[in-house]
Amino acid sequence: MTVPSLPLTLDRGSAEPLGRQLADRVRDHVVTGALAVGRRLPSTRALATDLGVSRSVTEHAYDQLTAEGWLETRHGSGTYVAAGAAPRPRSRTTHARTGTSELLRLDTGTPWIDPRHTAAWRRAWRDVSAATPPRGYDDPAGLLDLRVELAGHLARTRGLTCDPDEILVTSGTIGGLSQVLGALPPGPVAHEDPGYRAAAEAIRAAGREIRDIPAAEPVTDLTGCSAAYVTPAHQHPLGPVMPGSDRLALIAAARRAGAVVIEDDYDSEFRYDVAPVPALAALDRDVVAYLGTTSKTVAPSMRLGWLVAPSDLHQRILARREITHDAPAWPVQRAFVSLLRDGYVDQVVRSARRIYAARAARVLAALRPYADPVAPVAGMYVTVPMPHARALRAAGVAAKAGFEVPLLGDYCRTSRRTGLIVGFGGVTDDELDRALAAVAEGLG
Ligand SMILES: Cc1ncc(COP(=O)(O)O)c(C=O)c1O
Repeated sequence: MTVPSLPLTLDRGSAEPLGRQLADRVRDHVVTGALAVGRRLPSTRALATDLGVSRSVTEHAYDQLTAEGWLETRHGSGTYVAAGAAPRPRSRTTHARTGTSELLRLDTGTPWIDPRHTAAWRRAWRDVSAATPPRGYDDPAGLLDLRVELAGHLARTRGLTCDPDEILVTSGTIGGLSQVLGALPPGPVAHEDPGYRAAAEAIRAAGREIRDIPAAEPVTDLTGCSAAYVTPAHQHPLGPVMPGSDRLALIAAARRAGAVVIEDDYDSEFRYDVAPVPALAALDRDVVAYLGTTSKTVAPSMRLGWLVAPSDLHQRILARREITHDAPAWPVQRAFVSLLRDGYVDQVVRSARRIYAARAARVLAALRPYADPVAPVAGMYVTVPMPHARALRAAGVAAKAGFEVPLLGDYCRTSRRTGLIVGFGGVTDDELDRALAAVAEGLG
């Protein structure tokens, strides 16, 4: 049996120790079956050389995985995937593994999808199966029918008027962000701190430096930056809406610096009380690149979104896509057209908005006696600032009850905010109540 070469990448900029990162990557390969039972792994020395890390890093990872039962050492012959480590299915979005036990994560990004709407979902896919796919690569901007639907949707719900030809269909927010970053002139990208971790990863992956800007504070200087990534409708993860004066200041700063503002509008549909605030891009289409997603309304696994960019940026991205064909899969685009036309998206948004408002109220009622949660105006999580030690204690009690509650500190780069973030989209009411009872016990 040959020693496999492992496609592993480690993030040297991350605060997570390299040994732990490596153990996580190798464990993932075993769990998914990419490394089958009985496969021999590279020696710790060879892997350390491949990865350019010290041997103690690879030894630490192998020791950890051996202790967990994923790997076994055969004397004189090497390290192998252990006989009992058969791959097993697991939900990557709602469960986080700590050691070998599974916790139900109160994820900030997992939406609640009303099961009553499954008939429309099935109709959409029947529609796709009856349609004829394009013979060659389809329109590099994305399906025209979808762009027409989206133009109407954006004008109706986000106050953003644009032509279907000004829209690019993307593989979710992160797909769109990566394409924007690939088409901008060199330079650092300003990013809210604390902020969306996937965006930070995408910025780093594009080979760009991140300039931390304090979240939920006015941005007045973007000198030297090629872009600023922001979440103005609902700052992730602190929660507030960017006030009008801050919006104008941000746009003015971007204009002065010759930078693009990248607006991530991930969940503004889910305002509990009033209609969503208009998109930042509605104020200045020449400076703002607007990103929308189906991840909260339909499902994160759709990997579908849209981008409305200033025209020169749009042209650069489109020209590249004409060569690379880097547009989302046609069946997914086609299904989303059906979901929009059928009224599915409006229905799920309406019912989820009611559920989120009720669950947010539940979280506030459960935790207010012990902490000072930020009452959310929208979306599927409540941020609960508190000293780190308290947050850790509460998260620890929740973990014993079977729940992983995200720590606010995990979303910080240079800022020092601490607390918990209670996501309530991906759990049932009963699970939420049990998790809240555990958190309350940890805080009491
Ligand atoms: C701030 C923010 N932006 C965007 C997204 C969705 O990203 P994508 O469309 O790539 O799934 C999420 C999902 O959790 C998010 O929290």
